[in-house]
Amino acid sequence: MGEAQEVGEHTLKRSLGPVNLVALGIGAIIGAGLFVRTADAIAQRAGPSVVLAFILAGVGCAFAGLCYAEFASMIPVAGSAYTYSYATMGEFVGWIIGWDLVLEYAVGAATVAIAWSQYANRVLGWFSLAVPYQWSHSPFEHQGGVHGIMNIPAVFILLLLTLLLIRGTKESAFVNGIIVVIKVAVVLLVICIGWGFINPANHTPLIPAATMYTPPHDFPHAYGGIMGILGAAGIVFFAYIGFDAVSTAAQEAKNPARTMPIGILGSLVICTVLYVLFSYVLSGLATVEDFRTQGKEASVAFAISTYMPGYEWLSKSVTVAILAGFSSVILVMLLGQSRVFYSMSRDGLVPKVFSDVHPRFRTPYKSNMLFFVFTGVFAAFIPEEIVGDMTSIGTLFAFILVCAGVWILRVRSPELERAFRVPAAPVVCTLGIIICGAMIYGLGWPTWLRLIVWLLIGFIFYFGYGKSHSHINAPPPEMPEGIKLSK
Ligand code: ALA
Repeated sequence: MGEAQEVGEHTLKRSLGPVNLVALGIGAIIGAGLFVRTADAIAQRAGPSVVLAFILAGVGCAFAGLCYAEFASMIPVAGSAYTYSYATMGEFVGWIIGWDLVLEYAVGAATVAIAWSQYANRVLGWFSLAVPYQWSHSPFEHQGGVHGIMNIPAVFILLLLTLLLIRGTKESAFVNGIIVVIKVAVVLLVICIGWGFINPANHTPLIPAATMYTPPHDFPHAYGGIMGILGAAGIVFFAYIGFDAVSTAAQEAKNPARTMPIGILGSLVICTVLYVLFSYVLSGLATVEDFRTQGKEASVAFAISTYMPGYEWLSKSVTVAILAGFSSVILVMLLGQSRVFYSMSRDGLVPKVFSDVHPRFRTPYKSNMLFFVFTGVFAAFIPEEIVGDMTSIGTLFAFILVCAGVWILRVRSPELERAFRVPAAPVVCTLGIIICGAMIYGLGWPTWLRLIVWLLIGFIFYFGYGKSHSHINAPPPEMPEGIKLSK
């Protein structure tokens, strides 16, 4: 996305201005979260109060975004939250966050790939073609007596984009700009035209009474009331993931101290406004029961086709725009994943294979292939809600560590130059931690348990490999003077 996948980072040109960075952010942000998970959140957690969930998640992200902006303006190197934590809180916390970011980037890419497969099937349907249910769903899903076996289209798109990454294809800022314009245009069209089709009965009551709901492939959890809003916020939080990808482009930004905060916060503000309006319209178009039973992952197109007569063209445009948009999100996530593991590999925390560079394409091709296998397994065999919730919890956890990191570094190294400073840092950091923590709470115990298991597996790798191989005493040359690395 305007950034080179080639890893010779010192050779990257500083070519991205504030507008490119905002576009980069929006390109990475708007995707399956808005077009798929909004309907999940309506169906399973909050009904029309999903609008409040979007506001809550947006506020939590804004606090975390401010913290990211401070870090990005003072440590403008690739690696994102991993590099910040490694530099400020030491190797062990760095490891935890790097490992945790696999949930954000790799499992996140798998989630969007699953969503992509549902919309791709819709497009095939226009030509009277279809990938049969069992080959486009995980073994944990079933419909009308047919069980899924594996999700082949999701694996296909992951493979295609992995090959693109290995080739080192740069998505120029121009191509990204086009995708962003299409995505934003489609969201605006749905908001403006759909507004006239809102059925007020679907918005009453705005906050449904608190009860329990048991989804088809998961454990029972709260629906309605405050807990419903918190749970929905944890789900739609997925829609905001990606603004931190702006920070991975710090080395290609002109005057990063100024443009990084603009890129991160600007893209967040624009997306928050769009999301709140979009979720208001979507939850007003169809009933909660519709979202539970019909349309499933391709529910936006379904809602338009069913409740907006005469706008079939809009449903079709949404589907095509979504396919293009999802592809760019997957690409950014796979790219982010390979960058984080590239940095970790150079620090010795993961094997050298993750930083081996292709002799001709100059890309970390082995890492790309390994992550294709990893993401492919998730996309093929696990339902979208589960991988989506794992992505959300992993990212929320990373945000909490970033908020804590800003505060810790303020206390530990107050003298360091910070081109952008979080205003009222202790308050913002604390609120960021509390709101992200509340969203984790809302996601419920099965998702907490999955995060804990994931972290335990990470500890095994750290103590079995990373700790003894780390090069903590040889920090990367681009690390700014004055930031001490500590064990
Ligand atoms: N925010 C990105 C999406 O919604 C991850 O697809």
